[in-house]
Amino acid sequence: MASGSSPLRLGVNIDHVATIRNARGGAHPDPVKAALLAAKAGADGITAHLREDRRHIRDEDIAMLMAALDVPLNLEMAATQEMLGIALRHRPHAACIVPEKREERTTEGGLDAAGQIDTLRPIVGALGEAGVRVSLFIEADAAQIEAAIQLGAPVVEFHTGAYAHLDGGTRAAELRRIADAAALAAKNGIEPHAGHGLTFDNVAPVAAIPQIAELNIGHFLIGEAIFGGLEGSIREMRRQMDLAR
Ligand code: PXP
Repeated sequence: MASGSSPLRLGVNIDHVATIRNARGGAHPDPVKAALLAAKAGADGITAHLREDRRHIRDEDIAMLMAALDVPLNLEMAATQEMLGIALRHRPHAACIVPEKREERTTEGGLDAAGQIDTLRPIVGALGEAGVRVSLFIEADAAQIEAAIQLGAPVVEFHTGAYAHLDGGTRAAELRRIADAAALAAKNGIEPHAGHGLTFDNVAPVAAIPQIAELNIGHFLIGEAIFGGLEGSIREMRRQMDLAR
C-alpha cells in the first residue's frame, strides 16, 4: 500500500447473477449463494441494484441478502418513493442513489444531483435518519460534489464508465478528472467511491487514487467467472487492487 493511502474496499455487484437466473425463470444461479461466495473470496461488501423494472434483482432477493449476509449490503436505488419505502423497510448498510431510465441497458452516466436537489433532499434525509449511509452516483464534477455537500451525503461514487470506455489521452484526462474530484470530495469530508465498467485491464489507475475508499464492480467479475470461477475472478481483482494501492 502506498504511504498515505487508506485500505481500498471491494463491493461486488451481483446483479448479473440474477440476470442469468431470470433468463430461464427458475432459481439458478442463486444471487445469495453468489454473494456468500463473493464475501468468502474477499469482497468487503455486496452491491445490488433493485431496478424499477426488476430486470435482475427482485424484492425477495433484497430480503434474502439482508438475512444471509455478514458483510454490508449496498442497495442501489432510484430516487423514487417506492424505492425509499423499500430501503427504509430493509435498512441496508448503504444506499447508493442512481439515475434510472427504463430503456437504458445499464446506468449510463451519473445522477444530476445538482439539478434535482429539492427532490433528493427528503430522500437523502430520510435514509440518513434511518441509519442508512447514503451515496450519490455522480460524474466526477465539482458542481455535483457541491450538491452532495449541500445534501449532506456522506459518500459519493464516481461513475467510471467514460474512463473505462475511452483510451489514450482522453482516458488519461478522464482519470485526472476522477482523481481531482476524489481529492475535492475528501477535502470536504465526503468519502469517494468509484465504479462502472472496471476490469482487470483498467482497475489499477483508479485503485491507485489515494482518497478512493471503495470500488463497486459487477459485470466484468460475473462474466469473468465463466472462465476462472467467481472466487477466482474476485481474488484476482482484489489482488490487482491491492497491488495498485
Ligand atoms: N456502481 C454503480 C452505482 C452501478 O450502478 C453499477 C452498475 O450497476 C456498478 C457500480 C457496477 O458496474 P459494472 O457492472 O459495470 O462493474
